[in-house]
Amino acid sequence: MTGVFGLSAEQLTGVLRSAALAPSVHNTQPWRFRVAEDRVELYPDLSRRLPATDPVDRELRLSCGAALFNLRLALRGHGVTPLVTLMPGSEAPGALAIVRAGGRRPPDDETAALVDAIPDRRTNRRPFREVVVPVRHRQALVRAAERERAWLHVVADREERAKVQSLVAKAHRVQAADPGVREELLAWTGPRGGDGVPPRSAGNRPAPQDEWSFRDFQARERPPGKDYESDPLVVVLCSFYDGPSAELQTGQALQRVLLTATTFGLSASFLSQPVEVRPVRDELRRALGGTLVPQTVLRVGFGSPVPASPRRPVAELVDSPL
Ligand SMILES: Cc1cc2nc3c(=O)[nH]c(=O)nc-3n(C[C@H](O)[C@H](O)[C@H](O)COP(=O)(O)O)c2cc1C
Repeated sequence: MTGVFGLSAEQLTGVLRSAALAPSVHNTQPWRFRVAEDRVELYPDLSRRLPATDPVDRELRLSCGAALFNLRLALRGHGVTPLVTLMPGSEAPGALAIVRAGGRRPPDDETAALVDAIPDRRTNRRPFREVVVPVRHRQALVRAAERERAWLHVVADREERAKVQSLVAKAHRVQAADPGVREELLAWTGPRGGDGVPPRSAGNRPAPQDEWSFRDFQARERPPGKDYESDPLVVVLCSFYDGPSAELQTGQALQRVLLTATTFGLSASFLSQPVEVRPVRDELRRALGGTLVPQTVLRVGFGSPVPASPRRPVAELVDSPL
């Protein structure tokens, strides 16, 4: 039996499972889906907000944008061309997006490679190898962001790198002194079941010699000699304007960048502190020239394999059985 977009219930479940494999802040998976006759609607799951870390739900929308990109991609993988309306308003009150079918076309090679990368992509918080990311890979990541109408700023020279590093450290200190942020980190860290950041994904416990301030997800003590790489590729993913639509757009760009990186065997992790602390985010924006809106900071390099983090089953993400 076929249903929405001409897909079987099993295929549609697979498409939604792909959507749910997107990254999300603290692995909150803040998305819900409503399947109707001719469309899938994406909603924020406001019970999964992080009011202290993400008070205006900006990262919640980035996460949902990443899930939307996977949804689009998985549909393309089935030969369905998705037609997306962002922030549809009264047509679906509260929805972040409506996805309809805009025709059929077999997936091209690039689409197939990105679809294959969906289950392989992971946030890799461990040290990367001391290998420089080739220029052509870097350029492909910049193009991936552009394709989704966002901008990937590559932190290029030593001076800018030192500036970004100091902003990460500054925001990290602000958050470390904020009981609300600390509480949320603890609540979503450790063994929880189908969500949150489990110990196996936590990376290395931060140490005083680290150049970049990483979040402490209660990782085990690090083995001796396991220091971070000396010169990771650091990029700032930016939107061209501010607001919820730009955040959804940038979330899609984030996921295209991360999946493109995965196809090259590259790993990435996040350094979100400077975009979460408003005054520091303003400083970062000024440091980048004042026009682009910084949405997230990534560290990219060649890592060793890491285990997948958990996901909730699709049945928990939909309003009615498929
Ligand atoms: C908007 C956003 C911000 C994030 N910020 C951080 C961060 O600052 N530090 C970090 O280690 N991981 C960060 N993450 C990664 C999530 O914790 C990760 O995606 C989630 O735990 C699921 O794991 P996975 O990406 O391996 O599937 C962020 C993810 C998103 C989408």
